[in-house]
Amino acid sequence: MWGGRFAAGPASIMREINASIPFDKRLWKQDIAGSKAHVAMLAKQGIVDGEDAQAITEGLSRIAQEYEADGVPVNLDLEDIHMVTESRLAELIGPAAGRLHTARSRNDQVATDFRLWVRDAMDEVDAGLAALQDALLARAEEHADAVMPGFTHLQSAQPVTLGHHLMAYHEMIRRDRSRFADARVRMNECPLGAAALAGTGFPIDRHATAAALGFAKPTDNSLDSVSDRDFALDYLMAATQCSLHLSRLAEEFIIWASQPFGFVKLPDAYSTGSSIMPQKRNPDAAELVRGHAGRIMGCMNALCVTMKGLPLAYSKDMQDDKPPVFEAHDLLGLSIAAMTGMIGTVAFRTDRMRALAESGFATATDLADWLVREGDVPFREAHHITGRAVAAAEEAGVALADLPIGTLKAIDSRIDERIYAVLTVDASVASRKSHGGTAPDQVRARIGEARTKREQK
Ligand code: ARG
Repeated sequence: MWGGRFAAGPASIMREINASIPFDKRLWKQDIAGSKAHVAMLAKQGIVDGEDAQAITEGLSRIAQEYEADGVPVNLDLEDIHMVTESRLAELIGPAAGRLHTARSRNDQVATDFRLWVRDAMDEVDAGLAALQDALLARAEEHADAVMPGFTHLQSAQPVTLGHHLMAYHEMIRRDRSRFADARVRMNECPLGAAALAGTGFPIDRHATAAALGFAKPTDNSLDSVSDRDFALDYLMAATQCSLHLSRLAEEFIIWASQPFGFVKLPDAYSTGSSIMPQKRNPDAAELVRGHAGRIMGCMNALCVTMKGLPLAYSKDMQDDKPPVFEAHDLLGLSIAAMTGMIGTVAFRTDRMRALAESGFATATDLADWLVREGDVPFREAHHITGRAVAAAEEAGVALADLPIGTLKAIDSRIDERIYAVLTVDASVASRKSHGGTAPDQVRARIGEARTKREQK
């Protein structure tokens, strides 16, 4: 393709290090769409005649069918998807194929293809996350009243509901979707026509190609157009944060599935057994979601480091932008699907959750709050009194709600029988009615809002 200037061919190792076709073949659909938009514009502008443009367009359609049926041929000599497609076009239609690359460079071509690919990837992720949210909403609604221990420091803190806990993840996923949506708006500008770096002298219509490819507008600086990979970084950063959330959820499942917790029975479909220990049901899918998050973060880091030292405009380092994005996207897709499947089918052991919620003195704050409310006791003093009640319960080996009134009165005479109404876990969660609190009515209200917002979209 640059034979005019060179006397000798590349060393075999050069061919290997230079080629991106083994991975950028994934861009073939976007490459053909970009070329079709480009040649249509060239014809409309009178830069290429109508007959040649038609031959090119038909040839590209035929190549698309071939790729669809047989895959993209990986020919290292042809370097990348752009050259593989162009050389096949030349085989099919002859010298007219050479007109396609008028007023274009592989630099703006690959920037366009990759943007199109990342845009599709964002849409795919969004659909996956929407399905995960649906699964979370359904299970949260089912368990809006189910009491479980809420933790801080992984120590039993205050009772919450399982529905509330699941809705916390719904919030994280909502923010993830909005991050991808923001990034999508920002990246939806078309670099095609920036050519190698400086623009072109041909009378091209960049607005036409941008519109044909579904972009809001053409990019405004040709140097930036071919050097910018922010869209890929935005994708990777959003993917990183999303995978971090999925990893936290996975971690919860791993803890909850452990024998001492026993909060869930993981579905067979997302667990594995052991070849030696017949009793085992291992949370492999959750562990791999947790593991994949590390790899996705690694991909983000890889592209940051690739980009950070590059002067304008294109440098070949930028060819290395694609593998981390492809890898992260594949891992994220699997992680989202696995978590959606697990959430949808996991068996929650709500009896076990309730038993644990009742055993950890989790209503101690309710006792203290009652003293503040009913006895006008300053909170710090109430905290101290409650601490003594917890010590007494621990000593007697009973729950707070099972301490005799005599014992409680001996600790502080302002306590009376009414205290028992706030010491149950159900009363505790029902009382937390502040906006966003764990009271079942609050949780149901948030679920309802989440559903309405979805329908309005
Ligand atoms: N395969 C290249 C890439 O992925 C295409 C752009 C090549 N441009 C160049 N000037 N060598 O980045």
